[in-house]
Amino acid sequence: MNILGIETSCDETSVGIVDGEGRVLANVIATQVDIHARYGGIVPEVASRQHVLDIRPVCEQAVEEAGIEWGDIDAVAATHGPGLAGSLIVGLNFAKGLSAALGVPLVGVNHMDGHVYGAWARTEDHDIEPFQELVGEQPIMCLVVSGGHTELVLLEAHGKFRLLGETRDDAAGEAFDKVARVLGLRYPGGPEIQRVAEGAPETEALPRAWMNGTDEFSFSGLKTAVLNRARALGIYPPNVTEERADSQIIAGLAKAFQDSVVDVLVTKSIAAAKRENCAGIVLVGGVAANRALRESLLSKSPLPVAIPPLKLCTDNGAMIAMSGLVNYRNGRRDDWDLDVIPSLRIGTSSLV
Ligand code: KG4
Ligand code: ZN
Repeated sequence: MNILGIETSCDETSVGIVDGEGRVLANVIATQVDIHARYGGIVPEVASRQHVLDIRPVCEQAVEEAGIEWGDIDAVAATHGPGLAGSLIVGLNFAKGLSAALGVPLVGVNHMDGHVYGAWARTEDHDIEPFQELVGEQPIMCLVVSGGHTELVLLEAHGKFRLLGETRDDAAGEAFDKVARVLGLRYPGGPEIQRVAEGAPETEALPRAWMNGTDEFSFSGLKTAVLNRARALGIYPPNVTEERADSQIIAGLAKAFQDSVVDVLVTKSIAAAKRENCAGIVLVGGVAANRALRESLLSKSPLPVAIPPLKLCTDNGAMIAMSGLVNYRNGRRDDWDLDVIPSLRIGTSSLV
């Protein structure tokens, strides 16, 4: 069986195809990052209109790369939320049209479930087979960290999720993006902060919000702490026009911020996984691309850790196809009234 997954919840138009064993046959991603970078964040209407232009060529390229015919597709899966409403509508309606044209079922996918299942999609350099067998006997702890979400989710059986805790304010990726703006770095902020933090001088640590031992998170206080220190150090508002003489100061502050986020995410995930008697920990979402976070979790966790390769961490169609496969096997079929679940959290937002 082959399942085609469509992802358009934010600023990536992506189509992936997996086979019945979860092997990735194609994963084509058209990113709009450069288009939104000039605005310092995602502009929702610009995003939807770019999806309209990209969805068909991306889909055709995926089928070609997979080396299959249209008739070899047995089901179409699409993200129906949470995400930007105008962006979701493009992918979901395209999926409805495609499933009608091919005469195959339509399967809706929750974007966050999709991120988790990115870890199960099999590629040449990533095979979760040993983990696969553990699902069902013991739960798996999933740390889902993206631009819109920061969640600890317990995977109890395939397709069965229990939300243990989430952020009370900013998502981890959102904090990376906003702190990057404070420091005068480009959008998206995550990769930029990682870049400047590597090799940065040690500086005084920033606070950590432990949230009284709950499974919740908070990053807005940390963001304010960065802003206050940036002001005290005389690097805010940032001077982005001239060659920066203060790059070591910026790098030190970026590193202190990243260290704080990584420490909280890793410590709380491991504690929750031990408490819930988990078989392992899965790290997914765009922020899972962060090298410091990956290395810290891998070195500190006493339990096995699975982290997908970078192309399966940030938004992509293969993870939606993979999650769609699980939903399909669980008997999910969606009719034409499947609607989108908008999330107002993502998009251009105030500076801090
Ligand atoms: O999952 P994703 O691609 O889209 C959403 O569903 O939000 O995540 C995007 C987020 C952005 O906030 C971006 O700054 C962050 O992931 N990100 C990173 C890194 N690469 C992407 N954050 C930290 N370090 C990175 N290397
Ligand atoms: Zn995402």
